[in-house]
Amino acid sequence: MKEAVVMDKKELEQTLILIKPDALKNSLIGYVLSQLSEVHSGLRFAGAKIVHVNRMLAIEHYAEHRGKPFFPALLDYITGLAHYPSEPWKRRVIAFVFQGPKAISKIREIAGPTDPNEAREKKPGCIRALGTIVRLKDAKGNYIGERMDNLIHASARADEAEREIKLWFKPSDIPPLMRAYPTEINEEHFYFDGKKLTMKHEKGSVCLVAPGDCVWKTDLTALRAIHQGKTAHCNIETVAAKYLINEKRDDF
Ligand code: CDP
Ligand code: MG
Repeated sequence: MKEAVVMDKKELEQTLILIKPDALKNSLIGYVLSQLSEVHSGLRFAGAKIVHVNRMLAIEHYAEHRGKPFFPALLDYITGLAHYPSEPWKRRVIAFVFQGPKAISKIREIAGPTDPNEAREKKPGCIRALGTIVRLKDAKGNYIGERMDNLIHASARADEAEREIKLWFKPSDIPPLMRAYPTEINEEHFYFDGKKLTMKHEKGSVCLVAPGDCVWKTDLTALRAIHQGKTAHCNIETVAAKYLINEKRDDF
């Protein structure tokens, strides 16, 4: 009898990578991908998508930085507004899930330090060594701070990787044998209109999940709790943002 081939648990470690708008604008996608290549990194592609990042997704992705002085500039950066102010159709990020032993620390290592100047000094050759420090000015031209354009995002820790992968990817975006987190087949309808969650369609609302959809177990737990007015482990935007990726809704 043929034995079932089971992947070692270590092989399942995953990390989220975003190729940010400055890398797209400067034609560095090929370079970044060559640094991350399966042979170079020893890791495998598990998911990929091109995303027009709306504000909801940007705020959720960088939730830990909310309130910091660089937060507004960071939102302008990741949504593509900073690099394509008058060409909104060019505002994109390429999102990847990478998988394999020590995926998180390996990709952080290949990416290098957050600050491009520090990256050049301490780790020449790393991806972020090709980044830029941008001086920010207000409407009157006065200096108000700096933004670090550093080409890629890479999850920093296992809990962040899980949160971020579930924020950007549905289970169906990842081949079944490469999914690292529990899934469930949904049996209900959940709709969202930008503010509230409903189980019946209302004018202007979008269906987040329908019966038969394969969803992250934690998303379903949160949707059920939020709908019943109970405490959930996250807010509705954390779940909804992913289902609204590339939906043409300026209000979300
Ligand atoms: O991306 P990483 O996890 O290395 O750094 P972070 O501290 O989580 O910050 C997220 C992103 O915000 C950075 O990658 C930078 O693009 C930006 N940032 C900035 O513009 N100015 C700072 N002082 C710190 C971060
Ligand atoms: Mg970070």
